[in-house]
Amino acid sequence: MKRISNIIEQAKSGEKITALTAYDASFARLLESCGIDIILVGDSLGMVVQGHSNTLSVTLEEMIYHTRIVASNCTEPLIMADLPFGTYGTKEQTLMSAQALIKAGAAVVKIEGSEWLAKHIELLTQCGIPVCAHIGLNSQYIHTMGGFKIQGRSVDGINELTTTAKNLQDAGASLLVLECVSLAAAQQVLEVVNIPVIGIGAGSNTDGQILVTYDMLGLTPGKPYKFVKNFMQETGNITEAIKAYVKAVKNQTFPSQEHCY
Ligand code: KIV
Repeated sequence: MKRISNIIEQAKSGEKITALTAYDASFARLLESCGIDIILVGDSLGMVVQGHSNTLSVTLEEMIYHTRIVASNCTEPLIMADLPFGTYGTKEQTLMSAQALIKAGAAVVKIEGSEWLAKHIELLTQCGIPVCAHIGLNSQYIHTMGGFKIQGRSVDGINELTTTAKNLQDAGASLLVLECVSLAAAQQVLEVVNIPVIGIGAGSNTDGQILVTYDMLGLTPGKPYKFVKNFMQETGNITEAIKAYVKAVKNQTFPSQEHCY
C-alpha cells in the first residue's frame, strides 16, 4: 500500500496525484487496476450509496465497515478515510475515531473544518496518524455554510482560507483537500503551503485531483457541479472512464477552464 510519504514524494517530483472515492470491493479493485494513487472512503457514502441529501447521517461504524472492505480489496493505492460528522468534537473523541479508521485499514484520515481543528490534528499526528485537512466547501458544515457554495470569493474569504491552510499544515496535516474555491483562492493557498494539495473544483494548479467516482461516471442524479466532468460520456465504459480520468489528471487536461471557478 502507498504511504503518505510516497504521495509527498510524488508531489515533489511534479507527477500529478489521482484520487477517487470507493466504498466497496468492486470499485476498490477497479480503481487499483486503473492505477489510481489514492482511494478515499468518503462520507459522500451518505449521498451516493445511502441516498441521503447530505453527508450528516453517516456514522463512524459505517465508515469503519466500508474502510475495512476497501482496504482489504486493494494493495497499491493509499487508503484515506473520512472522519464523519459528529465524531471529532473533542481531541479525545477525534483520536478514538481516527484510531478506529486506521485499525480498519486507512493509512490517512481526512477531517473537514477550519482552524479550530489544529489541536486535534496535532494530537493525531503525535499519535502516529497522518491527517488530510479538508477545507473550502465542507459538506459537513452545510447548515452553518448555508448550503453548497463556492468558497474564497472575497479578499477576506481568500485570506481566511489561506490562514487556515497554513495553520493546519503547521499543526501537522500531511495533505490538504481544497474543495470548490475560486482560482484566486487556490493560487494563494498553493503559495503558502508546502504539503500536497488535492483539488476538487480548485483548478489545475493543485498537486492532484479528487472526484466522487459516481459523479464522474454520471451516476449522480441532478445537475452536476461545474467541477465534475462526466468521463462516461466520452468512453461509454466504466473502466475506460476511470482510465481516462487518471490520464487526464496526469497529463493536466482535466480540469480545464470550464470546470473552474
Ligand atoms: O466524501 C467525499 O467524497 C469527499 C470528496 C468530495 C473529496 O470528501
